[in-house]
Amino acid sequence: MRTPLVAANWKMYKTVAEAVVYAKELRVLVKDLDEGQVVLAPPFTALHAVAEAVRNTPIAVAAQNLHFETEGAFTGEISPRMVREAGAERAIIGHSERRRLFGETDELVARKVRAAIEAELAPILCVGETLEERDSGQTFDVLDRQMATALDGVTAEAAEDLAVAYEPVWAIGTGRNATPGQAQEAHAHIRKRLRERLGDLFGDDCRIMYGGSVNPGNAAELAAQPDVDGALVGGASLDVRSFLAIVDACRT
Ligand code: PGA
Repeated sequence: MRTPLVAANWKMYKTVAEAVVYAKELRVLVKDLDEGQVVLAPPFTALHAVAEAVRNTPIAVAAQNLHFETEGAFTGEISPRMVREAGAERAIIGHSERRRLFGETDELVARKVRAAIEAELAPILCVGETLEERDSGQTFDVLDRQMATALDGVTAEAAEDLAVAYEPVWAIGTGRNATPGQAQEAHAHIRKRLRERLGDLFGDDCRIMYGGSVNPGNAAELAAQPDVDGALVGGASLDVRSFLAIVDACRT
């Protein structure tokens, strides 16, 4: 039985002070949840403060990105070991904004996945097609390529607690979410590939989150799909009440 995983991707929003106010409010609201269902992904500057604010609560913290080396002369980069020490348990990897705006390739994403796992950070691996790719019937090919490269050399034991986020690029920040049917179709395909690559058990247990304009109004219908195991939420996660409504919708 998979429990839903709902993550707030704050992107480049919230100062440390704003992030801590939110985290303290949320920790009261979700205090009765089991661990491992709610994740906050603040900007790097707020990672440590948020991790402290949610210590010993059901909320986990994720980095939004990382570098693949442990340390070195990489001006402006943050290593997996650094975010782990700051209190993160997870890392979002391969978000489409990283791929599209910062030139991250499938190969780079793969290196980051392996580096995160080595540092004991559970990846939230983002995959998804552009509108052009969907319209030309390439959705499954794109998902296959992204997954195959990202998971190359990864074993089921090492990838324990890895989650996948299906985020159609055309649905991110556009207010245009995938229909529940479109999401289910893609999620079922991703699960099939996970089973083939990492075994039936891993594929059955792996949580596949949907991301792309999730809000309190559409979350329940999306999360009701058999292969949709929660959500990765951008815009609608910036307000704590709105995020909580999505968490609740994914759990019912
Ligand atoms: P959105 O972003 O909810 O604002 O569409 C989702 C994401 O980028 O993870």
